[in-house]
Amino acid sequence: MEAPAQNVATSAMAIYEGEPAIPPSQMALASAEPLIELSHVTKDYDSGAGVVRALRDVQLTVRRGEFVAIVGTSGSGKSTMMNILGCLDRPTHGYYRLAGLDVGGRTNDGRALVRNRLIGFIFQGFNLLPRTTAQENVELPLVYRGVPAKQRRDRAMAALKAVQLGDRGHHTPNQLSGGQQQRVAIARALVTDPPLLLADEPTGNLDTRTSLEVLSLLQRLNRDMGITICLVTHEQDIAACASRVITVRDGKVVSDVRQDKPVDAAAELAALPPPQVFAQTKDEEATLSPEALVKRRLGGKVPFAVFAMMLVGLLAGAVVGGMYNGIVLGQKVPWIVLLTAVLGESFVAARYGRRKLGKPLTSDQRVRLSLWYTLVTSGVLAPLLYWQVPTLPVQLLDHLDSFRAAGIAALVALVLATLVLLRYLLLSLFTPRPTPPPVPRSAATS
Ligand SMILES: Nc1ncnc2c1ncn2[C@@H]1O[C@H](COP(=O)(O)OP(=O)(O)OP(=O)(O)O)[C@@H](O)[C@H]1O
Ligand SMILES: [Mg+2]
Repeated sequence: MEAPAQNVATSAMAIYEGEPAIPPSQMALASAEPLIELSHVTKDYDSGAGVVRALRDVQLTVRRGEFVAIVGTSGSGKSTMMNILGCLDRPTHGYYRLAGLDVGGRTNDGRALVRNRLIGFIFQGFNLLPRTTAQENVELPLVYRGVPAKQRRDRAMAALKAVQLGDRGHHTPNQLSGGQQQRVAIARALVTDPPLLLADEPTGNLDTRTSLEVLSLLQRLNRDMGITICLVTHEQDIAACASRVITVRDGKVVSDVRQDKPVDAAAELAALPPPQVFAQTKDEEATLSPEALVKRRLGGKVPFAVFAMMLVGLLAGAVVGGMYNGIVLGQKVPWIVLLTAVLGESFVAARYGRRKLGKPLTSDQRVRLSLWYTLVTSGVLAPLLYWQVPTLPVQLLDHLDSFRAAGIAALVALVLATLVLLRYLLLSLFTPRPTPPPVPRSAATS
């Protein structure tokens, strides 16, 4: 995608295609440095019961490449200001110039053109069309512009790739997580290469981790592509990521602070503890590609260190079992030693595995762990056992004269299968439960 900042003048010219001729003085202004200029802007709403003054004499200049956060309490006028900036509404008094063009005074159609050419919108509720794929949602602004189908597809895919959703083009919104839906919405806002992105509470419906993901994406677009961003938020930690924070109270700008070192959302994200893997519901799994689904279920290789720690657990468990036998019972009861050994190793494997992997063992990992561990340890222990108690299997199976060999094989298989199952059940018992997902911020605050 080309750097949109350079496109402003050409976009501004295009806005006037088929419209009244653009005065030369305005064209000169179109390449001037400030992108947004609000001059003595007042907005009144006539609500029937009386006039509500939502904005009072607002003066504001935003230069290209700035990342502005607009904060303020509920009802202070933030959305009203965004509606005017986004040409969705016009000031009652005062002027609004965008890229040097007087947009505040334009007709509805004129403002719609400006919106389509210069502004990308991101909303709290994503505002994606349901039952429409991500790619088609992203193509929509280009449909309004009359861009040919092939070019639309290519540009939509490029925008989806820019928000790291190149592989989700064919998913509908209900097959995507909240963060992914918001990224589709960002791709839709980006697809027209606008110099300005306006976002009203873009992270209001998202949890902390997903909010930081969305913010780091916005910071990257601002830094690498020079896109100017104005973002409304209630959250102090979101505003901390902006290069400038404007506070609105009772429709007035009461403070305007530049932040030389805004918080880097990507660094904050990296500092968060690793994400938990939650039990997947059928709905959630339906959103994954078959490949991703298999990967998630397999959970990756179990590190060798987990097997080693399991052996330590086994020895510790055997010692405890032996001591119980000797001190409490005063006699040798081999199955007690076996049980405490398996208990010890399973406990250690489940806890150590979680630490090593950063998430609980998946059921597939537990199966593999039980299977390999049982096979390897029985391979090592079988000759020892046979040397210690050579007659044991023979005594047990004496009465199975004609089927002796088959009987021994069946017994060994049964013992091994029981051990694998016991290990699996114990590993599952000791596997820590994932904590429930964090409550979205909006739910937590309202
Ligand atoms: N269409 C409307 N008709 C009448 N009054 C309105 C209208 N839209 C907004 N207002 C009023 O204007 C004031 C500013 O509203 P606005 O939606 O801009 O607040 P906000 O800062 O975005 O609040 P929030 O954080 O709750 O979204 C409020 O007092 C509101 O009641
Ligand atoms: Mg609002």
